[in-house]
Amino acid sequence: MNKINRREFIKTTALTGAAAVTSSIICTGGASVFGRNLPSLAAQKQAAVGKPIAISSGNGTKALEKAMEIINQGSDALDGVVAGVNIVEDDPNDMSVGYGGLPNEEGIVELDAAVMHGPSYRAGSVAALRNVKNPSKVARLVMERTDHVLLVGEGALKFAKAHGFKEEDLLTERAREAWLKCKENLNKEDDWLPPHSIEDTDIGEIYEKYLRHYGTIHISALDTYGNLSCVTTTSGLAFKIPGRVGDSPIIGAGLYCDNEVGSAGSTGRGEANLLNLSSAMIVEWMRQGKSPEEACLLACKRVNERCREKRLQDDQGRFKHGVTFYAINKRGEYGGASIWKGDTYLIHDGIEVKRKECAYLFKK
Ligand code: GLY
Repeated sequence: MNKINRREFIKTTALTGAAAVTSSIICTGGASVFGRNLPSLAAQKQAAVGKPIAISSGNGTKALEKAMEIINQGSDALDGVVAGVNIVEDDPNDMSVGYGGLPNEEGIVELDAAVMHGPSYRAGSVAALRNVKNPSKVARLVMERTDHVLLVGEGALKFAKAHGFKEEDLLTERAREAWLKCKENLNKEDDWLPPHSIEDTDIGEIYEKYLRHYGTIHISALDTYGNLSCVTTTSGLAFKIPGRVGDSPIIGAGLYCDNEVGSAGSTGRGEANLLNLSSAMIVEWMRQGKSPEEACLLACKRVNERCREKRLQDDQGRFKHGVTFYAINKRGEYGGASIWKGDTYLIHDGIEVKRKECAYLFKK
């Protein structure tokens, strides 16, 4: 296999005037991967006239800035989006992603992530990965360095270690305290007690906000060559059953990208997207001519209309959990929508990050 540093590659192909690369080139050091028969980066660069754009969930300000900094330097969108989410994965203060993410019901952090690369139509993902804080990097390696798409649990960890990732404890004090508070208040009949006095007779309360907390970051980006890529990474549902996997690492559910059409992803209740393959649907709706916002709204409608379980509906029969969608198309148009009013997304137009209101189905 020909391994070549990307900078070297650009220099060499520019000097020799090479117009196209006909065999796949894998670049080390976190650089791009280009598929068979695709134009070389040099050729694409000459053709590059496009304005880049990137969209993310509302927790992605720094991530989008990093992603666009890299894309604006002429890098592939995948390089940008992965570097962007790495910032959030490393951030102990985001309790829905990577290091500092809320753990499963046993107090162990389990992470899910996936990447999809438009130009090569490839994807990689990991699920229920423990002790590695950048699952998006491991997902990318699954795409680049295996014949598979998805690795889970122990196998994913062994694969990460084979590639030099070090194991570390991902549970921060803040996340451990949140987990303990939930555990102590979950069941008034069990042996775990929250702080109380000897006068108290009714001890404990249910902490709804901890019990059903879904976080996640998604970024989709269009680079200066008009190529699309995306990433979704998460610690998943807080205090989940060990081994629970949400939508984030499932291609078509938590993210999807078609280089001819657009790219989409989601945050929120992953089970809804697993049942509806929402991100793939959004891309297909865009293919049929819907705008990114219209396509995201259709995904919200589909989640709501297909739900048959009363426990998931409010007293008016509406899907009561939060699910939010983000999409961009090949022309650089963008949009976001959520089931419930109040959610926002971020857009980077190549110059700055702007926060936008999501379209929505219902108002509380
Ligand atoms: N959307 C994140 C999850 O459900 O795990």
